[in-house]
Amino acid sequence: MTDRPVSAVFSRGTRHEQVVFCHDEHSGLKAIIAVYSTALGPSLGGTRFYPYASEDDAIEDVLNLSQGMAYKAALAGLDLGGGKAVIIGDPKTDKTEPLLRAYGRFVQSLAGRYYTACDVGTSSADMDVIARECSYVTGRTVEHGGAGDSSVLTAFGVYQGMRASAKHRWGSPSLEGRTVGVAGVGKVGHHLVSHLTAEGAKVVVTDVSADAITRVVGEHPETTTVDDTDALVRMDLDVYAPCALGGALDDATLDVLKAQIVCGAANNQLAHPGIEKVLDERGITYAPDYCVNSGGLIQVADELEGFSFERAKSRSAKIYDTTLDVLRRADADKVPPSIAADTLAEQRMRDVGRLRSVWLP
Ligand SMILES: NC(=O)c1ccc[n+]([C@@H]2O[C@H](COP(=O)([O-])OP(=O)(O)OC[C@H]3O[C@@H](n4cnc5c(N)ncnc54)[C@H](O)[C@@H]3O)[C@@H](O)[C@H]2O)c1
Repeated sequence: MTDRPVSAVFSRGTRHEQVVFCHDEHSGLKAIIAVYSTALGPSLGGTRFYPYASEDDAIEDVLNLSQGMAYKAALAGLDLGGGKAVIIGDPKTDKTEPLLRAYGRFVQSLAGRYYTACDVGTSSADMDVIARECSYVTGRTVEHGGAGDSSVLTAFGVYQGMRASAKHRWGSPSLEGRTVGVAGVGKVGHHLVSHLTAEGAKVVVTDVSADAITRVVGEHPETTTVDDTDALVRMDLDVYAPCALGGALDDATLDVLKAQIVCGAANNQLAHPGIEKVLDERGITYAPDYCVNSGGLIQVADELEGFSFERAKSRSAKIYDTTLDVLRRADADKVPPSIAADTLAEQRMRDVGRLRSVWLP
């Protein structure tokens, strides 16, 4: 599928174990599966179905995302490595049964080194189709033993991370009376608002979707709304929760942000390398995104054992302890929390991963 030499992957300085290009001409499938690490177990990560402008963009995305999954699984204490896949195309027009099933056969060919799940552009129903050709699929529909919507536990985990951040910053995990700004009240954001209002926080929300705002205000009339994220971050917030897109924490935002804590669901919140130091210099407590948003991963991982909501919820509750640990280590080591989180994840991949060197008969 590519005229690009394989060295184009290696030349990025990537440390991935395996990158697989999958092509099925008849169905139009063009996919890339990246396995970053299997040090802790089989790699797991969703399949993103997206109309990438170029193959290069797709490679870049799948390499970054799979690495992120390895760190997220390691920090969450799961026996899973990190992987991710991208299908190049427009899910609205290109997604067909033959294409998804062809993709399933490629996942199957990795014999369990990579488990797939939902991501942008793919749904639980798609996972059911892929599973007709493949045993290594999670995030399936409830009718097929799946866990359903992962945003419920993602929001619960973010809420636990926020309580831990409050404990670290203010000495008490309580968010009662605190003003929390939530940018993006979609699947995760609106569940987060429910936890916050139940605890007595004052919640301000914004979203580009009028429907999303209507739903959250309908459910929680005490919620205040503002026009856009720019207006939200300029408010006298105690906590800012980015729950929309990546790159939420950029220089312009940090110039005006008044919140003492940032803790939200969005992936890849740090807009560029070095912004974690600006957060630190500004005295803002940043709960690393992949530390607090791992509830969804914990949920789909639980499905592999036969899903139990209560078990997955109690595992997600541990995000409180992990976040507190990350923030305390960051203080002790005088590094930003995102560096402390990376160090903990790398240490677990190394220390637990090396146990495989002990041969078992
Ligand atoms: N769903 C999960 O289980 C999960 C797990 C981990 C991380 N995340 C991350 O959390 C974030 C939210 O995920 P989701 O599943 O709720 O997605 P979603 O699409 O349901 O919700 C995102 C919301 O953000 C709004 N939005 C988009 N651009 C905006 C902007 N500029 N300003 C304000 N609002 C804007 C959208 O209208 C939408 O309502 C994403 O970054 C996602 O990658 C989600």
